[in-house]
Amino acid sequence: QSGLFAYDPGFTSTASCRSEITYIDGEAGILLYRGHPIEQLAEKCSFLEVSYLLLNGELPTQKQYDDFVRQVTYHTLLHDQLSYFFQGFRRDAHPMAIMVAVVGALSAFYHDALDIRSKANRDLSAIRIIAKIPTIVAMSYKYSIGLSFMYPRNDLGYVENFMRMMLGNPCEEYHENPVLVKALDRILILHADHEQNASTSTVRLAGSSGANPYACLTSGIACLWGPAHGGANEAVLNMLLEIGDSENISHYLEKAKDKNDPFRLMGFGHRVYKNYDPRAKLMRQTCHEVLDELGLHDDPLFKLALELERIALEDEYFIEKKLYPNVDFYSGIVLRALGIPVNMFTAMFAMGRSVGWIAHWDEMISDPEHKIGRPRQLYTGKTQRDVLSIGERE
Ligand code: SDX
Repeated sequence: QSGLFAYDPGFTSTASCRSEITYIDGEAGILLYRGHPIEQLAEKCSFLEVSYLLLNGELPTQKQYDDFVRQVTYHTLLHDQLSYFFQGFRRDAHPMAIMVAVVGALSAFYHDALDIRSKANRDLSAIRIIAKIPTIVAMSYKYSIGLSFMYPRNDLGYVENFMRMMLGNPCEEYHENPVLVKALDRILILHADHEQNASTSTVRLAGSSGANPYACLTSGIACLWGPAHGGANEAVLNMLLEIGDSENISHYLEKAKDKNDPFRLMGFGHRVYKNYDPRAKLMRQTCHEVLDELGLHDDPLFKLALELERIALEDEYFIEKKLYPNVDFYSGIVLRALGIPVNMFTAMFAMGRSVGWIAHWDEMISDPEHKIGRPRQLYTGKTQRDVLSIGERE
């Protein structure tokens, strides 16, 4: 129809559709970060090594890694006035509401982020984001349970530091089980990036106007919060608790197939993967390791999830629609076993994905050919018509 513009949801007319960072083959179930398979990165690298890779394009040498870790460690502390932001929230505020507010407020404190023409400023903003988001996540949890904030400690590793701020208390020393630290480190790797997903595309589109990185990450956090995206890990756990017992699985699978029923099998299906999400396999393996380490191998929710997966993957609806478990299906079970409360699951997803967001933001803003995003649309409204005075309108 003349005068109408075709809106292709996959194209936002910015450089966001051209990227060197992550490759997904949805049919084959392949995920590469800068060409490296996620399976090898999850097995051989730390989250900070993978963060360096996503930001710089190559895995770090030992010297580069040591320097990167030193920089991140140095920036884990928040400006003390940021702690006042938490005092304004109700204690039962959802952690993602707090993250949207506090991460956005970072641009009110770290003004170098406002001048994004400088690569040094962009690099420093990336370090600050990777360093400070765990502190913000831990503080939002501590605030919600009425306990004092824990300052980060520079003598601890990245994940152990987070777990101490989140789960430790100032009255006693905190030493986390190294198996659990490694498990959480791997979970952050699995969440670090995923190409042009909704929240990353949101960050790139927001950044295409020249907005500062903290403000852009706020848009990504807001988008990730939705239950169809990062909010799914919290929804999966609530779904498993609602299903309760394996004898109820077939009833819920029928609900999931019923187009008139809003219920969807949370943690199943994906916009891109039409095969098993490679991250889900690694997350299931991590579940086994953590639950075995904690002596919880008979965890009823994990057994229910395994049975639900088995039955669904044998169901012709799920086979025909190519619906497989995605990254969120098992992540909630392992986070819960690590002592992370359900309402913090999406904040944990944001903690891992923040490095992907800032890597994509930097790639886009550093591209001299990038233009402000301006998605086109397929107009389906009224054709031109005259205005009637209010008395003539019916
Ligand atoms: C993430 O993009 C990313 O990369 C996201 C992510 C990342 O790392 O950033 O991977 C993280 O968001 C993973 C997805 C988490 N969300 C959930 O687990 C929520 C449950 N999943 C569904 O909401 C759904 O699968 C979506 C939203 C994820 C995808 O929906 P689509 O695009 O409709 O999936 P599809 O085209 O493959 O669906 C095919 C059919 C459709 O039915 P028909 O129109 O053919 O009749 O399968 C149906 C869908 O309605 N379907 C489901 C289903 N998912 C799709 N039916 C029941 N249960 C489901 N979970």
